[in-house]
Amino acid sequence: MRKENLSKRILSIEPSLTLQISAKAKELAANGRDICNLSAGEPDFEAPKEVLKATSNAIFDGFTKYGPAAGDLELRKAIAKKLKIKNKIEIDFENIMITNGAKQAIYNLFQVLLNDGDEVIIPSPYWLSYPAIVKLAGGKPVIVKTKAENDFKLEKENLTSKITSKTKFIIINSPNNPTGKVLKEEELNIIAEVLKENQGINLISDEIYELILKKGYQHISLAAFANDLKDRIYTINGFAKGWAMTGWRVGYLVGRKEVIKASSSLQSQSTSNVCSFVQRGALAALEIKKEFFDNINNKYDERREILFQGLKKIKGIYINPPDGAFYAFPKLPNKTISSVAFCNKSLEDYGLVVVPGQAFGDDQCIRISCASSIHKIEDGLTRLEKAIKTYY
Ligand SMILES: Cc1ncc(COP(=O)(O)O)c(C=O)c1O
Repeated sequence: MRKENLSKRILSIEPSLTLQISAKAKELAANGRDICNLSAGEPDFEAPKEVLKATSNAIFDGFTKYGPAAGDLELRKAIAKKLKIKNKIEIDFENIMITNGAKQAIYNLFQVLLNDGDEVIIPSPYWLSYPAIVKLAGGKPVIVKTKAENDFKLEKENLTSKITSKTKFIIINSPNNPTGKVLKEEELNIIAEVLKENQGINLISDEIYELILKKGYQHISLAAFANDLKDRIYTINGFAKGWAMTGWRVGYLVGRKEVIKASSSLQSQSTSNVCSFVQRGALAALEIKKEFFDNINNKYDERREILFQGLKKIKGIYINPPDGAFYAFPKLPNKTISSVAFCNKSLEDYGLVVVPGQAFGDDQCIRISCASSIHKIEDGLTRLEKAIKTYY
């Protein structure tokens, strides 16, 4: 049979490492193995009831037809209000478009702003989709390494050493997936300084985990922090993580009006509007009271702390305290085995499912999620300790 010639575009990206491991975990579980899965990239609770209700009401009210590609006007206006009050970003609804998750917001942005060979600086560890999305737009991901021992701090010299005449974007992500790091003011200052010194460079601030923060921490949006640079800062956000609405696929892109317009054109010729009635659910989500998030954050705080303290006790592991999101990113004792081999072996031998750091650009780490029960986290820590003792 004739072999199909796949496009260069699709051949430029690698198949997901995580899918491979979760397929193996499923197979073992189906064969009766006791599996402890700490790889979740999504909250383990349900979306608020008010959101479910508003969505089902929208269906029965007939809010089920095509809508504007840029999103429902009411939702765009409500997001503009939220950005003004909560994030201190002063913009109009025309600076916002609704996308199929935060992922499509990043995808659209690079499709409309990158040309072949344009470079995008991505600090590692990074969310695994950034390099692939850059490549799909013809761009070149340029990785700046940060180190666990240095609290994954992005040093100015390291960042500027990667800037060339082709640099078009820098990506930052706080709170961070996979490290749980929350950028401090001094670090935001460095990023703002670099943008000021390099007028041709734009920035993506991925704030999808903004609501998942350790007690006492506050989220700072770079577009508000560096208000004079707001024209070059694109804020990415969505409803997936904070409201536990991962499968709903509602995100948004915030930036210059002409870019939002171009991105809406792209969306109108690709996926069209985000599901109309789901946007009604997102509108209701914006009305959810603070207590809902406080309650969830209390749970995450407790789990994060148990995970962090447990990891600290495992000999040979290096761990920074995660301050946001729901992950920890411990460093394994040494490089004798790759993170992929470690994850495969600990799945086979101890039934533990964690994500290899290689997927996030750091092959000596693993990502452990605390979007699961305390019992499971403690069970996972016991299995991890055994795996480390066996392999090192
Ligand atoms: C850092 C980061 N950005 C963006 C996304 C995409 O979010 P969404 O589900 O809204 O597309 C994720 C999802 O895991 C993420 O971790």
